[in-house]
Amino acid sequence: MMIVYKSRTGNVASIVSKLNLPNVEIREGLIVDNPYFLITYTDGLGDVPKVVEDFLKDETNQLNLKGVIASGNVNFGLYFCKAADLICENTGVPIIRKIDLRGTKEDIETIKKQYNLEVMSK
Ligand SMILES: Cc1cc2nc3c(=O)[nH]c(=O)nc-3n(C[C@H](O)[C@H](O)[C@H](O)COP(=O)(O)O)c2cc1C
Repeated sequence: MMIVYKSRTGNVASIVSKLNLPNVEIREGLIVDNPYFLITYTDGLGDVPKVVEDFLKDETNQLNLKGVIASGNVNFGLYFCKAADLICENTGVPIIRKIDLRGTKEDIETIKKQYNLEVMSK
C-alpha cells in the first residue's frame, strides 16, 4: 500500500507529509504497480485535475486504486471536493475523506485508520 497524490499549491503535499506513509507524486507517465490511496486537489468547478484524469486512464493505475481522498475548499459549496465523487463514480472505489484545504488532525487520523484497514485486509 502507498499514497499517490497530486498537489498544486501545497495543501495536499502538507496532508501527505503528516501521514508518514510511503508516497509518490503524480507526474506524466507514472505507473503504480502497488495498491494505493489517491489524494487529489479539486480543480475548475468540481473537476478532477487533468494530470490525475490522465493518470487514471492507465489500466494498471486504475486496478491498484483502493480509495480516494480529495482536498477542496468548502466555499465551493456543492462543488466541494467533487473530484472525489467523480473518481468514485468512474472507478467504483470508496471515498475515504473530503478535506477542507490542509485538513485537521481528525482528517489525518481517519486516512491513517482506513489505510491500516486496507493493509490488514490483504
Ligand atoms: C482554479 C481553482 C479551482 C478550484 N475549484 C475547486 C472546486 O471546484 N471545489 C473545491 O472544493 N475546491 C476547489 N479549489 C480549491 C482547491 O482544490 C483547494 O485549495 C486544495 O486544497 C488545493 O490543493 P493543493 O494546494 O494541494 O493544490 C479550487 C482552487 C483553484 C485555484
